[in-house]
Amino acid sequence: MAKGDTAEQQEFFEKRVRPLLVRHCYECHSGASNEVKGGLRLDSRQAAQQGGDSGPAVVPGKAAESLLLSAVRHEGLEMPPGRKLSEPEIQSLTEWIESGAFDPRDHPPEAGEVASETFEALYQDRRQWWSLQPIKSSEPPLLDSSPLLNSIDRFIVAKLREKHLELAPPADAVSPRLLCGHGVASDGIATGAVLGRSRFRILGASD
Ligand code: HEC
Repeated sequence: MAKGDTAEQQEFFEKRVRPLLVRHCYECHSGASNEVKGGLRLDSRQAAQQGGDSGPAVVPGKAAESLLLSAVRHEGLEMPPGRKLSEPEIQSLTEWIESGAFDPRDHPPEAGEVASETFEALYQDRRQWWSLQPIKSSEPPLLDSSPLLNSIDRFIVAKLREKHLELAPPADAVSPRLLCGHGVASDGIATGAVLGRSRFRILGASD
């Protein structure tokens, strides 16, 4: 991200940083917290830079000195407690601080505003769920090999390759029956048949 471009920094903050702080940190580090933890508030620029009991949490331009980053990387502190942000989220915070920690939050929000910000962050987050995406018709990805794959398999194989994985080798004639048999024994006939068939397909057997 360009250091001097305010519009870009503002967009980055609003899209990547604010929702993350609201969603994962405000519960314990804002005016809306029952008790502000570690003496640290992360709901205004000044509070975040001033930091809590252990000193500055955000040092603009200095990732290595920013306690917030070591905390989310679980080096020493483990924030948020009991779970870890995803790598892309940690990367966003790192990029934000390294590029000068642009932060338009002059004042901490009122408690009511925090509630609506939290809701907004959750709402934006959930809008990304696959189940809420509009239905669209997609062509199955073209793959350079495996002419036997049906169109559903092609979607699966394309995603597997994105993650540097390959399809399991084709099943021999016996395995699908074994899978079916297992399904029938433990789950009843209906589930067994479905399980058997779907495994059968994923294994890539052609008969
Ligand atoms: C469920 C409550 C909770 C949440 C959510 C939470 N924290 Fe904390 N945080 C704490 C507690 C409690 C402390 C005090 C140190 C301790 O007991 O581990 C603390 C301390 C800190 C400190 C050190 C403050 C100081 O100066 O001593 C930092 C930095 C910090 N948290 C960052 C974060 C960040 C960033 C997030 C969000 C990604 C976050 N925390 C989310 C509970 C929380």
